[in-house]
Amino acid sequence: MKHFTVFVMVAVGAAVALAQAVGNAQTGNAENGKRLFLRDGCYECHGYAGQGSRDGARLASTILSVQGLIRYVRRPTGAMPAFTDKVVSDQELTDIYAYVKSLPGPKPVKDIPLLNQLSKQ
Ligand code: HEC
Repeated sequence: MKHFTVFVMVAVGAAVALAQAVGNAQTGNAENGKRLFLRDGCYECHGYAGQGSRDGARLASTILSVQGLIRYVRRPTGAMPAFTDKVVSDQELTDIYAYVKSLPGPKPVKDIPLLNQLSKQ
């Protein structure tokens, strides 16, 4: 009986750990993603707020899927250097994805007074 109880506790523990791992794989951990975005130097070209710059595209609230982001990072087609999974794993990129997805994207034109004025001219 005692052994059975221990077995059940271990099994439940494993199931919870697995569920957490699966949950993370799907959604990513934005807080860890922020740390990795800095550690791996993504911010150097993409900006601290993922806003993009002369050297990198905007990533804030990206329209890419998580698979799309991973695919691009592994085999970029432009000026961006490739990152292999030795440098940044798929799980880490999923966390980075969660982070950049959570960042606010650009304001719509109607919320930028000067552009709003211009668009009415
Ligand atoms: C040396 C500069 C540089 C660094 C460092 C860099 N990128 Fe990029 N990235 C770019 C540039 C430039 C582009 C625009 C397309 C191109 O030229 O490859 C880009 C494009 C992208 C895109 C495609 C965006 C889109 O909407 O199509 C993703 C996703 C991306 N980067 C993710 C990352 C991640 C994640 C990191 C960190 C692991 C990173 N980048 C580090 C320069 C960089």
